[in-house]
Amino acid sequence: MPANNIGIIGTGPMGSNLSLNIESKGYTVSVYDISRQSIDDFMSARAKNKKIYPYYDIREFIDSLEPPKKILLMIKAGKPVDETIERIIPLLGKGDLIIDGGNSYFKDTIKRENCLGSKGILFIGTGISGGEEGALLGPAIMPGGKADAYSLVKDLFEKISAKAPDGFPCVSHIGPDGAGHFVKMVHNGIEYGDMALIGECVWALKTVLGLDAKKIADIMRQWNDKNDILSSYLIEITAESLAQKESTGQDYLVDSIADITRMKGTGTWAVQSALELLVSVPTIASAVFSREASQDKDLRLSLSQNLIYPSKKYSGSHDDFISIAHDALYISKISSYAQGFALLEAASKSYGWNLDMGRIASGWRAGCIIRAQFLSEITGQYEKNPDISNLISAPAFKDFINKNIEKLSKFIEISHSAGLPIPCTSSSFDYILQITSPVLLSAQVQALQRDYFGAHGYFKLKKDSPEIKTDSSGKYIEYHTEWMDKKRPEKLV
Ligand code: 6PG
Repeated sequence: MPANNIGIIGTGPMGSNLSLNIESKGYTVSVYDISRQSIDDFMSARAKNKKIYPYYDIREFIDSLEPPKKILLMIKAGKPVDETIERIIPLLGKGDLIIDGGNSYFKDTIKRENCLGSKGILFIGTGISGGEEGALLGPAIMPGGKADAYSLVKDLFEKISAKAPDGFPCVSHIGPDGAGHFVKMVHNGIEYGDMALIGECVWALKTVLGLDAKKIADIMRQWNDKNDILSSYLIEITAESLAQKESTGQDYLVDSIADITRMKGTGTWAVQSALELLVSVPTIASAVFSREASQDKDLRLSLSQNLIYPSKKYSGSHDDFISIAHDALYISKISSYAQGFALLEAASKSYGWNLDMGRIASGWRAGCIIRAQFLSEITGQYEKNPDISNLISAPAFKDFINKNIEKLSKFIEISHSAGLPIPCTSSSFDYILQITSPVLLSAQVQALQRDYFGAHGYFKLKKDSPEIKTDSSGKYIEYHTEWMDKKRPEKLV
């Protein structure tokens, strides 16, 4: 009777690469897929002579596993996950473990964990980042679930995960139930932000300075120098892909690629969660909206005839603009990560997850799509002070922002003058200005308007102070003005 260490359902690119990664660390693996062809292709092309064993029958697949049985699902998120769980529940016993390694919605993960828990079956919902290459060579792993469940796969996850520059595995138990998938969802929201900010910067370099793709690729390559604060996987692949020519060898691929960014939905979920939790994530939201606007190609084509923006030529030096763009991108990135971590903080409180921000940042230092030198900087800041109120207040970031924020405003001014939409960069800038304003006059005006038309009430500032008046228990005191009364008396609500 064989007794393999783990079973993987799904022999697509992610599932098969993870199988090979796991096998290379000394484990035996059973694989199953609803497509027989997919299993056969994987076995004959890549799994020959490996301790990876194919099963075409789900019962035989489950029977092939050592107890407690550990089954990793690497299948499409949504319905297929529920259907597969339904199929294997009757074949599992108490203490067996199902791991969902797809980009599942965290609220589904919470439901699934509850449902399986009532049958004595353990469940982990885990984010796995790094794409196909990461799955094979070492991904960043973000598991959520019960500690008992995690203890069954801790060693395996640590062995197969990416290792940070100091050797630490990029995996740790993120927290209970949906915490792992929530953290992966925020990772993806930040990923959307990073990608859009880089895209806006490339567009500005091209239009303002008139550079071709190769020249911009060279700049990005310099920014990826290991001592550069922007050095990251996404800058690296931007440089490499910008320099890619068409198969004819003439033009650059980027100039003919359609200007449409598709998405599978994790970024949208991140923004929806931010809306639910009342957290401001304008850069991430702008990145989602930009993808949506990109998909409205016909509308853009027709409206482009209606508005001709009078674009101004940049008269400064090339080197100055490159340096402005570099620092503007870095500050925008700090702002975007500050938003992402604020969202994690809010979720941690609301769902009682007790998330460890330093550990999460540390786990993103290698393997995942947003891996960057910058993540070590964030980790360092959280190590010095785990209770940072917002990342932009961490000393390393605060000092950089204070010294260079004018460059971000200059970058926005020059890009807008050239007629470029840079919604993510602008949102990053506004986020910083907004959360560092002791009094938001625009909010005072809106509070007035609400009270005027709807008698919705308002709070008041203490005399000669930006602070809000409270009663003896610390609660904001609410007022209302009788707007319809000529004398307009103010009264307590
Ligand atoms: C990762 C990626 C991965 C995938 C996203 C892309 O961390 O490895 O984020 O999960 O590439 O699903 O998402 P979109 O299709 O929404 O861009």
